[in-house]
Amino acid sequence: MSVLELDDIRLAVPHPSGDRTLLRGVSLSVAPGEALGLVGESGSGKSMTLRTVLRTEPRGAHVTGRVLLDGRDVRGLGTAELRRVRAESLAMISQDPRAALNPLLRVSRFLVEGLCDARGDDERTATRRARDLLAQVGIADVDRCMNSYPHQLSGGMLQRVVIAAAVAGSPRLLLADEPTTALDVTTQSEVMAILDEQRRERGMSMIFVTHDLELASAVCDRIAVMYAGEIVEISTPERLHAAPRHPYTRLLLDSRPSLTARTPVLPVIPGRPVAAYEVGGGCAFAGRCPWSEPGCTDGEIPLVRDGDRAVRCAREEELAGELAHATGTEATA
Ligand SMILES: Nc1ncnc2c1ncn2[C@@H]1O[C@H](COP(=O)(O)OP(=O)(O)O)[C@@H](O)[C@H]1O
Ligand SMILES: [Mg+2]
Repeated sequence: MSVLELDDIRLAVPHPSGDRTLLRGVSLSVAPGEALGLVGESGSGKSMTLRTVLRTEPRGAHVTGRVLLDGRDVRGLGTAELRRVRAESLAMISQDPRAALNPLLRVSRFLVEGLCDARGDDERTATRRARDLLAQVGIADVDRCMNSYPHQLSGGMLQRVVIAAAVAGSPRLLLADEPTTALDVTTQSEVMAILDEQRRERGMSMIFVTHDLELASAVCDRIAVMYAGEIVEISTPERLHAAPRHPYTRLLLDSRPSLTARTPVLPVIPGRPVAAYEVGGGCAFAGRCPWSEPGCTDGEIPLVRDGDRAVRCAREEELAGELAHATGTEATA
């Protein structure tokens, strides 16, 4: 059984000019121990998807669809049960570690109180465990870290503390929302390596949200590509790179900076990303897609599954061969 299954999640928020759709039927599953990357441009609905799992969507949002965590529908739980599920089965790591920590508490208090609450440890046991956890996430000077207030530590150190707290109870599922985006580049790779190592050692599943396809490919078993509030393609990183099946994925791959290609100007995806609520009929990407045809803007285009892959493109079969090759190498300013 999947650790997490999202089944046709639709979300709309109230707006003076009528409800605004933000998620247009997101379905995905995460297997035990699996890391799923959720990638896509800013505003495509990645964070909102995670919020439906945590049930922290915006106030007044209308949500339909099912969120099954180990087979139980999270969306139907009462407050007390929801608290328990959040404490035992889910952990969240967000972009800004400062938001997760109380600025008035030393790291030791933050970790020890968390461990006492979650595991019922006594203070001495919790302190010992907190120190072990800090060492495991690569903190060299555990004493100094334990005694520090958040403002005394760098972003990278703080994110390690947050990771330590997140993995402490070995939850079933880690929700990591751009956990390294706010860090400088060298710190990013260290923190990512620690998160990856801790997740694997503990056999935890993860949804890793990022706009960085390369990073997702390096640490995830499968990648789901989001566009305008829906998933347009799911694949393994290897197959996604070798033979993407959705035009948007192809163009995302082509717009990465390359160390070897001698392209003077990076190809960009033409047009601007559309918001989920702006999408009419047919394919959300049609207006920017070099391969679109008149038929692409009609009806609803389903996410068609094929083994461990899935794609939402009306021309999927015709384009399969063409999309295996990079485009835009002759891009000009
Ligand atoms: N609290 C909110 N109320 C209304 N709209 C929101 C709210 N938060 C985010 N949105 C909108 O929802 C869409 C998806 O946002 P988000 O999931 O944060 O994108 P991503 O994480 O992929 O960058 C965006 O268009 C954003 O403007
Ligand atoms: Mg986001």
